[in-house]
Amino acid sequence: MPPLNAIAAASHADPYPYYRELLAGPALVFDPDLRLWIASRAAVIEEIMEHPQCVVRPPAEAVPQAIAGSSAGTVFARLVRMNEGAVHACARRVIGQALAALDLAAVAERSAQCARALDAHHGLPDGTALTRWLCDLPTYVVAGLLGFGDAELPQVALLVADFVRCLSPLSTAQQLASASTAAHTLMELMQASTPGTLADDVRRRAAQAGWEDSDAIIANLVGLMAQTHEATAGLIGNCVVTLLRQPGLLARLRADPQLVGAFVHEVARYDPSVQNTRRFVTHPISVAGMALQPGDTVLLLLAAAGRDASANPQAEVFLLERPERQLSGFGHGRHACPGQDLALAIATSAIEHLLDLQLDPALLGWTYAPSANARLPQFFNSPVKERP
Ligand code: HEM
Repeated sequence: MPPLNAIAAASHADPYPYYRELLAGPALVFDPDLRLWIASRAAVIEEIMEHPQCVVRPPAEAVPQAIAGSSAGTVFARLVRMNEGAVHACARRVIGQALAALDLAAVAERSAQCARALDAHHGLPDGTALTRWLCDLPTYVVAGLLGFGDAELPQVALLVADFVRCLSPLSTAQQLASASTAAHTLMELMQASTPGTLADDVRRRAAQAGWEDSDAIIANLVGLMAQTHEATAGLIGNCVVTLLRQPGLLARLRADPQLVGAFVHEVARYDPSVQNTRRFVTHPISVAGMALQPGDTVLLLLAAAGRDASANPQAEVFLLERPERQLSGFGHGRHACPGQDLALAIATSAIEHLLDLQLDPALLGWTYAPSANARLPQFFNSPVKERP
């Protein structure tokens, strides 16, 4: 059965035939039930992401009503991801420069250490343990970069998992309340600054850039863990799904682990963890020949764009050696993900670790976590059939 709509597609077992149909249709289509315009082609999505009148939040609702006035709302309102204009530009420059200055070889080493320690704790490759391992790993790595000590990481990872629920429209009132408590605690924990850490570097660069709002700086440090959490876990999970679906690839990577980096990049194109994002139209504009009005919302199907043959020839084929691969799943333009290289480095280390383990498609199954935009596999042990 195809997905019910473009939002349900994010967590559908195989949304790609549905995306293919959209790619073959008009540049923008209106879904009257969702009350959203849908964009699937790479060039149209890029045009919208570059458009100054297409913004990341509805002007009348800077913070979702459900969390307005709570600690989660306080953090949300200050996130670089959720702002435009001067507030966005300054914070974005500081955060982008600090992330670009990271030593990715050291990140890879730290990720490998965390992968081993979490494996010893969770016990791979049991299905449930695998899900917890890949959810914890990226948050542990980024929390460690920000300055949290090993003993604090389990608590911080739980708090981040609670906090990110405030970013989802599917969360219950109870989850939103826990998200708020978590936001408050994370803001408190993030007050401390250790020299030589990513948090310290962000603060130093903020001072140089004249960014003096310490609450906003702390909110954005918390935001870095939140932005990491599901998106990077989803990338690692979708890599595992690809290896389970194509055991030949697993054998190839085992024979030549140098290919793991290219493999992770191709998964980020072929089956990305962030499937869609939104833009809100502030003034009358024309996009791809269509008139959009203030109040219109456009759903940008990043995952469909990765399969757009005009951006990636032979888009439906999984190619390790793909020349000039275009990744749509990390966004584009002024809000493009500044954590892309970090996320790819963490995921590469994670998959290198898994190469030594028994990943057997007969023993592991998966479903996708309910989500309006993320594709996050949840693994389980398949019942082993009795031998006759
Ligand atoms: C596989 C993992 C990741 C994916 C797929 C991903 C994807 C994205 C996407 C699509 C956006 C843009 C959203 C939009 O324009 O509507 C974004 C923004 C952002 N990401 Fe990532 N991300 C990942 C990991 C990370 C990591 C590890 C960090 C940092 C530690 C990070 C930090 C950010 C920040 C700060 C923004 C907001 C940028 C801005 O608004 O200027 N992300 N990410």
